Amino acid sequence: MKKILITGGAGYIGSHTAVELWNAGMEPIILDDLSNTNEDVLDRLKEITGKQFVFYKGDCNDKSLLEKICAAHQIEGVIHFAAFKAVGESTQFPLKYYQNNVGSLLVLLQVMKENGIHDLVFSSSCTVYGQPDVLPVTEATPRKKAESPYGNTKKICEDILVDYVKSKPGIRVIALRYFNPVGAHPSSKIGELPIGTPQNLVPFITQTAAGIREKLTVFGNDYDTSDGSCVRDYIHVVDLADAHVKAFQYLAEKGADFYDVFNVGTGNGNTVLEVIHAFEKVSGEKLNYVIGPRRPGDVVKTWADTTKINQVLGWYPKFSLEDSMRDSWNWQKSLG
Ligand code: WQD
Repeated sequence: MKKILITGGAGYIGSHTAVELWNAGMEPIILDDLSNTNEDVLDRLKEITGKQFVFYKGDCNDKSLLEKICAAHQIEGVIHFAAFKAVGESTQFPLKYYQNNVGSLLVLLQVMKENGIHDLVFSSSCTVYGQPDVLPVTEATPRKKAESPYGNTKKICEDILVDYVKSKPGIRVIALRYFNPVGAHPSSKIGELPIGTPQNLVPFITQTAAGIREKLTVFGNDYDTSDGSCVRDYIHVVDLADAHVKAFQYLAEKGADFYDVFNVGTGNGNTVLEVIHAFEKVSGEKLNYVIGPRRPGDVVKTWADTTKINQVLGWYPKFSLEDSMRDSWNWQKSLG
């Protein structure tokens, strides 16, 4: 059974990807510093899959730890999720973001080289596009100056991978540019666990509906969109996880020194108000929200052209926006 190291594998997207890798006959080996999740996710993963995944607590910048993991397991591929991802926080603590997000990739690539590990799937983000001039966004859309240090770390990591593969180290790499991950596993055993006040829309919606937050503020309804609120491409986290499985299966067919990038989204854009209404429809809850001022730095509208991932990886989303709202709400209720 192929063993795949998942850095950040106890996190929101990492944990869902561990499940889909297992379902596809691959064994996840999980490394996570637990800075943005907690260890009982491993128990939940066992409840879902019946398998207690091997877990290492630690920092992806810790070369000796990565070497120890590679010495103990015949790792055949890596998915690199481990990164800080809070846009606002990255403007307050840029060095922390560059050290962690860029530094950890450099350490990982070194250790992969030393251990003859050839396959890497890298967690990138649609944030590299900034506000696209043309929609939907294709992979050929020029990347823009990042709106935040977080977004810049994703661009820098992509550039590192392009330059590194050009040096012919013998590895095969796919970067997946996520649009907006939402939802939770239909079992409600794993989902998004925002620590503190959620920065992202959907956890704020579900916490408001659960009475944890008093109200949701919609950051502006005076944009040039169908109802004035911003447009995003909300992709169910299980669909997103499946894209990583398809990426590994594709890499297995490729020759060495391969790099490619794929958008991962539904191909549809929805406004903030449409998301709220979808949530209200599937939950039966009336959401307490108000319209507030715009959030600085917000992209007005973006959604993916998914032709490339559809045709090359054979990946298609299976879950709808309403499925995502249903699963997010069931997950929130499971937290009590
Ligand atoms: C979505 C929409 C907000 C909260 C960010 C990162 C991206 C990725 C996902 C890591 C926007 C509106 C939100 C609220 C609101 N992160 N909103 N009220 O900003 O598209 O993407 O998170 O990979 O890289 O940039 O996601 O969920 O914060 O916002 O009105 O309380 O919801 O204005 O239009 P975003 P988001």
